[in-house]
Amino acid sequence: MCGIIGYIGTKPAPNVILEGLRRLEYRGYDSAGIVTLNNGQFELRKKTGRINDLAAVLKKSPAHGHTGIGHTRWATHGAPTDANAHPHLDQSGKIALVHNGVIENHQSLKDKLIAAGHQFLSQTDTEVLAHLIGNFYKGDLTEAVRLALKDIVGTYGIACVHVDHPEIIVGARRGSPLLLGIGRNENFLASDVSAIIAHTRRVVYLNDFELVTLTRDDFQVSTIEAATVTPQVREVEYAAEEVERGKFPHYMLKEIFEQPRVVENALRGRIVHDEATARLGGLNLSPADLRAVDRIIFIACGTALHAGMVGKYVLEELARIPTETDYASEFRYRNSPIDKHTLVFAISQSGETIDTLAAVRECRRKGHKTLGIVNSVGSTIAREVDGGTYMHAGPEIGVAATKTFLSQITILTLLAVLMGRMRHLASTRGAEILKELETIPGKIERILQQTDAIQKVAQKYCDAKSFLFLARQFNFPIALEGALKLKEISYIHAEGYPAAEMKHGPIALVDPHTPSVFIAPRNSVSDKTMANIEEVKARKGPVIVVATEGDTATAQKADDVLYIPDTNECLQPLLTVIPLQLLAYHIAVARGCDVDKPRNLAKSVTVE
Ligand code: M6R
Repeated sequence: MCGIIGYIGTKPAPNVILEGLRRLEYRGYDSAGIVTLNNGQFELRKKTGRINDLAAVLKKSPAHGHTGIGHTRWATHGAPTDANAHPHLDQSGKIALVHNGVIENHQSLKDKLIAAGHQFLSQTDTEVLAHLIGNFYKGDLTEAVRLALKDIVGTYGIACVHVDHPEIIVGARRGSPLLLGIGRNENFLASDVSAIIAHTRRVVYLNDFELVTLTRDDFQVSTIEAATVTPQVREVEYAAEEVERGKFPHYMLKEIFEQPRVVENALRGRIVHDEATARLGGLNLSPADLRAVDRIIFIACGTALHAGMVGKYVLEELARIPTETDYASEFRYRNSPIDKHTLVFAISQSGETIDTLAAVRECRRKGHKTLGIVNSVGSTIAREVDGGTYMHAGPEIGVAATKTFLSQITILTLLAVLMGRMRHLASTRGAEILKELETIPGKIERILQQTDAIQKVAQKYCDAKSFLFLARQFNFPIALEGALKLKEISYIHAEGYPAAEMKHGPIALVDPHTPSVFIAPRNSVSDKTMANIEEVKARKGPVIVVATEGDTATAQKADDVLYIPDTNECLQPLLTVIPLQLLAYHIAVARGCDVDKPRNLAKSVTVE
């Protein structure tokens, strides 16, 4: 949520910052701003709207200098206006600040500052922090930031500059990600590595309560208590091209089409054919530890939670381990009884989702081992869990999660095989599941070839006001995910339900204008789902079915059919979700929606 970039070096700072902001735009895009230091003055430009709007301002009124900070905003305090856009200045006008996160005690601090004669130009909590830093400033910017942060309750990732110190940028974090990029004769600050990957792959991820003072050719990391920190420099594994859209009109479509490779990457090196099992080395648990597990809890948000729900079905089926899922935002404040044989998994693409992170911290505080399934290497969750698995799905830029969902359920299936093979799962069944898993990339390719046919279905239904998504068992979470994808990018109301639950309320919504999407591939419950399809048809509701290739009986009942190849029942979610992603995508495009940057959303949710 919100994006930060800071630059200090020899290149024109506005160019580097603007390019970085474009790469960060998926993190928040209601307004943006930049400040550079030039000949003892700030050059400040801010604009409501997208980065292109800020670029237009900069074209008309260029900024200069070799030091600067920039921000792309997702509004929390105050509407998206030019005045509320970051950077914000302190009372003296000599300190500029960009900030991600929420200052919870901003009102009481603001009241005190107003009583002392300060005047505020925005409604933001960030401007309060800028003024506070100004209040503490006595010639040393790092020290002023440090003292101000001690008075803060809340979360922050910040970058701060002083007009009299063009040779430094100060950054700090608590709860909102911030990293520094190390270049040659230049250094960077960023909330996300994608902002700086075109310049350097050498990064240092800051930890909570750490500050950094950056010069052109050096940096000093310390704690908020002024203790020196020896930073760990890491090499980022992905290349700049991975964050390019290439020939695709949207990142979302590119990422949907990457899914065959994403599943291959999630499987790579993790299948042990000889033993008909899986290997997940990063769990950091011995076979004895794994055998002792008698309950699993998946905590996550949004799409990642739906992946956890698929994981529940698969783990219970293959490993016979009681498994629960919970919204991280609920789990973190709930007093969930967890005993020593319970394994808690956090699932998160970004590794920065604040509720998931807080749930991890709550578990660890209580002494429980907590594992992660994370995509972003070096992210906060990845660093704070006791072990886990990286997805290796590559950067996901589209706000709607697609390829990382596939990666998550692939890994969860491997986990189920691993745990199952230590318990009741016969080697023949384990081998059968693993063999079938390896065919999934090819089967996804076949579904992707139907994108034109799915586009036609999308055009037929794109004016609907509401959709129902209905499914049973392994595919029930896919009904939730299909509904989430549609609503978040097309703004059409959509609800996902277990198919049989429809009769307990949602059926009241069925009418000739409300399409019901049934995820009904051939499986052990398809006859039951068929009965639910009949119930909708009896009420003249249009029916779209995701069906198995060759299943003419189901196809005949539907107004429109999206086909998937046949596969093992517990692997069906890996296929059934693909046509629903494409359906949502094409509906959103047909409605003229901004697919990659849907309204009100941001990629990484770092506020509660
Ligand atoms: O980065 P995370 O996986 O922790 O994100 C969780 C959710 O915010 C995310 O899945 C969200 O629901 C997506 N916009 C869904 O497409």
